[in-house]
Amino acid sequence: MRKILIIGGGAMGSAFSIPCLENNNKVTITEPYNKIFINNLSSKKKFHSSLKLTLPKKLKYRKYSKDILKEKFDLIVIALSLAGIDFIGKELKDLKIKTPLLILTKGLKYDKKKNKLLTISELLKNNYNVANTSVLKGPCLAKELAKKNKTSVVVANKNIKMAKWIGKQISTKYYLTEFSRDVIGIEICSAIKNIYAMVIGSGQNLNAASDLFQKSVNEMKFLIKYFKGDESTILGLAGIGDLYVSAVGGRNSKMGDFLGKGFTFASAKKKFMLKDTVEGEQLAREIAPFILKKINKDRIPLMINLLKTILYNKKI
Ligand SMILES: NC(=O)c1ccc[n+]([C@@H]2O[C@H](COP(=O)([O-])OP(=O)(O)OC[C@H]3O[C@@H](n4cnc5c(N)ncnc54)[C@H](O)[C@@H]3O)[C@@H](O)[C@H]2O)c1
Repeated sequence: MRKILIIGGGAMGSAFSIPCLENNNKVTITEPYNKIFINNLSSKKKFHSSLKLTLPKKLKYRKYSKDILKEKFDLIVIALSLAGIDFIGKELKDLKIKTPLLILTKGLKYDKKKNKLLTISELLKNNYNVANTSVLKGPCLAKELAKKNKTSVVVANKNIKMAKWIGKQISTKYYLTEFSRDVIGIEICSAIKNIYAMVIGSGQNLNAASDLFQKSVNEMKFLIKYFKGDESTILGLAGIGDLYVSAVGGRNSKMGDFLGKGFTFASAKKKFMLKDTVEGEQLAREIAPFILKKINKDRIPLMINLLKTILYNKKI
């Protein structure tokens, strides 16, 4: 039995607690930001409003404070969305905790000063001196995981022993783990698939969507190599695995469908998806200053087209 702390009580952090508990770990969850999740998790019933289910009684909720990070845990899981990464980086900076950290967050950040795109593990290391990180990615809809539907994910760390140790603590019959050393490739794939899910969603029939799927895979392969990841990672769970699930369902491909029907991003958002977070849009705005300036547009025409569609609110 290990002691696991999950930071982030959103859909994914809460769903992730289920296999961890089933594996006989002592699991504590904390929520630093969102009042609805704080209310959900601190209530007696523990009904999660996003997952629409009651979380296990054994899941312990603790109010967030920086001090909780200093307590003795065997694994700390970061399940915040991209917007929360600088917050947790600042909190962890200088604490010098040795506990292994596992990052579930998907996304990339643009470092304006260095004019570089950083993956989340790079950002935590470069800007906040947090180095003991592994990443977990792959096709995993939080609602399906929470219902214990079969899910496969990949844990990556250059130190493969650490990735396997983490896998042992969190795997169950329905939550299967694979392992990789290609941390960068896996982080790049899992972030940009949200943009390519929009691209594929814009295809207005299966033939067109399949064409866009194949060309998206080629562009993703190019980008993995550009950022010095291993291009074979495209064939894994964090590559085509996650691209598939995002392209057949979810908010990014839904927005892509509206773009394909001729709406601009702003009009589709206002008319059909006002309250939805479209992660691909946030990522597009974050990475556009780098991608549009630095990468040969002939190598990634679909990405460039989508970035311009969102940035300039044009028809695709
Ligand atoms: N690795 C995987 O298998 C996997 C699967 C699904 C989702 N995800 C990723 O997990 C992350 C969370 O997804 P989710 O579905 O739980 O989202 P969610 O919206 O349900 O929860 C978001 C979480 O981030 C926190 N947060 C948001 N803005 C913040 C801020 N400014 N400061 C501090 N905290 C902030 C919220 O409080 C909440 O805890 C996303 O990056 C998503 O892509 C990973």
